[in-house]
Amino acid sequence: MEEVDDSTGVPESAAKVFGGGLDLARRFAGLLERHGVERGLIGPREVERLWERHLLNSAVLAEQIPHGARVIDVGSGAGFPGVPLSIARPDLDVVLIEPMARRADWLAEVVEALDLSAQVVRGRAEEKTVREDVPAADVVTSRAVAPLARLAGWCLPLARQGGVMLALKGSSVRDEITRDLDAVKKAGGATPSVHECGVGLLDTPTTVVKVERTRPAKSGGPRRRAGGMTKPKRAG
Ligand SMILES: C[S@@+](CC[C@H](N)C(=O)[O-])C[C@H]1O[C@@H](n2cnc3c(N)ncnc32)[C@H](O)[C@@H]1O
Repeated sequence: MEEVDDSTGVPESAAKVFGGGLDLARRFAGLLERHGVERGLIGPREVERLWERHLLNSAVLAEQIPHGARVIDVGSGAGFPGVPLSIARPDLDVVLIEPMARRADWLAEVVEALDLSAQVVRGRAEEKTVREDVPAADVVTSRAVAPLARLAGWCLPLARQGGVMLALKGSSVRDEITRDLDAVKKAGGATPSVHECGVGLLDTPTTVVKVERTRPAKSGGPRRRAGGMTKPKRAG
């Protein structure tokens, strides 16, 4: 993939958020700038706000993730939040799950181009093969994938018992929690809590819903080595 230099318009906070990964974050932004619109991954208006709305908004989620955690990102799309997380936190073992071939191919190309320690799995989070093939995670992330009730049914089964799902949500999240609380509990979750990430770093901090999985998770099968996959693996 052709890369363009994205060194203009990088917010000051990016150095704090990405630390030693800033150059990789710039290259990811450059890839999206060069290919994102033509490949139908982002809308044309998003190019100007890639950093604040997408890269930084995603990477600050790292505040909620313990060192060395195994992370599954459900519905990564163009790579959010899983790719910025993998860049900002190379200690994490990240799996990007995405059902659309076009997007899964893009994710695999990004992982290869940036030499990230992440895997791409093509499939839907609720598929039996995904649940069986992808080892249970400490943290299951998502952004803009589904309402909380459905998300809980998809994400909690992918977490180990005591693991959490972290969903990036908008400002009306408390209403969503009230509406979907019964469904979250039925899916094996504890009462959700709401957290703000990136306070003091972003103009608009990222709102995150955290739900702990309280029921035993199904064992996830053999653990796969991170980083070895360059083409998206079809689950099953
Ligand atoms: C609106 S996009 C958001 C993409 C990305 N998370 C972001 O914030 O830019 C929703 C993504 O979720 C994926 N998706 C939808 N249903 C899914 C499922 N059941 N399991 C996993 N991913 C799913 C879609 O293919 C799409 O890429």
